[in-house]
Amino acid sequence: MPKKRKTEEREYDIPKLLPKRKTKVSKKGEQKVEKPSQNQHGFVPYLPSKVYRLIEPGPVLLVTTGSLADGTHNVMTIGFHMVIQHESPPLIGISLGPWDASFAALKKHRECVLTVPSVEMASIAVDIGNCSKDDEDLKESSKWERFGLEALPAGKVKAPLVGGEHVMANIECVVEDTKMVSKYSMWVLKPVKAWINPNMMPGEGGKMFHHRGDGTFVVDGEVLDLKERMVKWQEFQD
Ligand SMILES: Cc1cc2nc3c(=O)[nH]c(=O)nc-3n(C[C@H](O)[C@H](O)[C@H](O)COP(=O)(O)O)c2cc1C
Repeated sequence: MPKKRKTEEREYDIPKLLPKRKTKVSKKGEQKVEKPSQNQHGFVPYLPSKVYRLIEPGPVLLVTTGSLADGTHNVMTIGFHMVIQHESPPLIGISLGPWDASFAALKKHRECVLTVPSVEMASIAVDIGNCSKDDEDLKESSKWERFGLEALPAGKVKAPLVGGEHVMANIECVVEDTKMVSKYSMWVLKPVKAWINPNMMPGEGGKMFHHRGDGTFVVDGEVLDLKERMVKWQEFQD
């Protein structure tokens, strides 16, 4: 999440994510930096405030909100999201906070579109997430114009799909549950219609990219097919 840096994080040295190493002075007066404390299991401590970097890498998504019909549509980038439920109904959680202009639009319309960009759109997606509809220089135009994005009418929601050959998919969603919004900025969404680009199917041409939480990204790579070992979960292999 784009929150203010805490001073706690500045106290950490290289490698930045390990607790700061202590310095000991030997009898001869030499300074020795202690090795990171290592338990018998071989792991070293890691900052709890950074564990999101270990598990964040779901694909970077764009979220469109507002209404295409009245020209209030907007688009932003997210990295924090999770699948909550397969079906009955399918549910997705996204973290979208009041620091985003999109927050008010989502609150008002209770609908959005989650767009899956392919790696070709990585730089644009990052730029989209580094400017706001509320920015002074976007008052007269929009991110759609700035980044040359195509806004297409959706089937069931007012927010637009994102068009273009490098868009892998668009998922139209309605807000299902807002109980965790005030505390965690966590919206529970229900997909109501979804569209996929047949030339950009995941694993068959389309490559998603994943935020590692620090401005670096990993791109989909080798596919491991371990379906034959999924003996207990065959219903998810179609
Ligand atoms: C890679 C990346 C990931 C981001 N992930 C999130 C996220 O998960 N949730 C969130 O609220 N903002 C996230 N942001 C920040 C928003 O995209 C950013 O605040 C944006 O300016 C919001 O646009 P808006 O104010 O027009 O709604 C992310 C930004 C980037 C670049």
